Amino acid sequence: MAPEALTRTWTFLTAMASSTLWREGQAGDGREQELLQHVLKVAEKNPQSVMKTIDQYAQRSWLMNIGEDKGLILDQALTDRKPKAVLELGAYVGYSAVRISSQLDQPGATVISLEMSADNSNITRQVVAHAGLSDKVQVVEGILKDKVEEITRLLHELDAKTFDFVFLDHDKNFYLSDFLILKEHGLVGKGTVVFADNMKIPGSPLYREYVLKTNADDFDTVEHKTRFEYLRWLPDSVIISTCK
Ligand SMILES: C[S@@+](CC[C@H](N)C(=O)[O-])C[C@H]1O[C@@H](n2cnc3c(N)ncnc32)[C@H](O)[C@@H]1O
Repeated sequence: MAPEALTRTWTFLTAMASSTLWREGQAGDGREQELLQHVLKVAEKNPQSVMKTIDQYAQRSWLMNIGEDKGLILDQALTDRKPKAVLELGAYVGYSAVRISSQLDQPGATVISLEMSADNSNITRQVVAHAGLSDKVQVVEGILKDKVEEITRLLHELDAKTFDFVFLDHDKNFYLSDFLILKEHGLVGKGTVVFADNMKIPGSPLYREYVLKTNADDFDTVEHKTRFEYLRWLPDSVIISTCK
């Protein structure tokens, strides 16, 4: 293995072993803050340069962004749906918020990005601002059950009743329960596309069972087999479900 790939693998393993990753959304060694400083220093102030800078940084210090390979599947899903109202659960350092919002071309189109960590919310706001996309991304700090009213208000401000596109990329144990909260509050409906990342690693068995088995008739679902972010030797998949 090349030295960079070894370092990347090592930083992946140390992140996975870190007690703070799952609790606080950060790897525990300051890499997310360092990434922010790196973006502010070297990236040009446009989305492509910001994403490229983050992808390059993640080649040596692994980050849990959707990354380049799965990012292309996300891009295609956005092209197919052309959403105006997007909800993202899990912002981390803002990579996917930049990736998604840079492709929204409808007037007023917005990504509402929910992030539990205050530090990650701050990093995301700065990364998004550097990419010149602050008018298309609203970062909400917290978890869904506490933020449903705020998210509903923001959605209604977009003149929409339901989200066109939901990107699930937060705690995999919450994919199903948070989807059910959205459903219960009428925030998803016919035509909503739900894109679920990391359906193989680490996986979300309850969500998988729901969309592919117990409630399969409620959705048109496609699973794309792909590669894990920045570690191509690991298999992963994404599940894209359109609500009927
Ligand atoms: C995989 S990362 C998101 C990566 C990002 N979507 C991207 O592709 O660039 C997961 C993020 O979800 C956040 N998170 C974890 N559980 C959450 C929850 N219940 N609600 C909101 N955010 C959560 C973590 O703090 C972390 O920043």
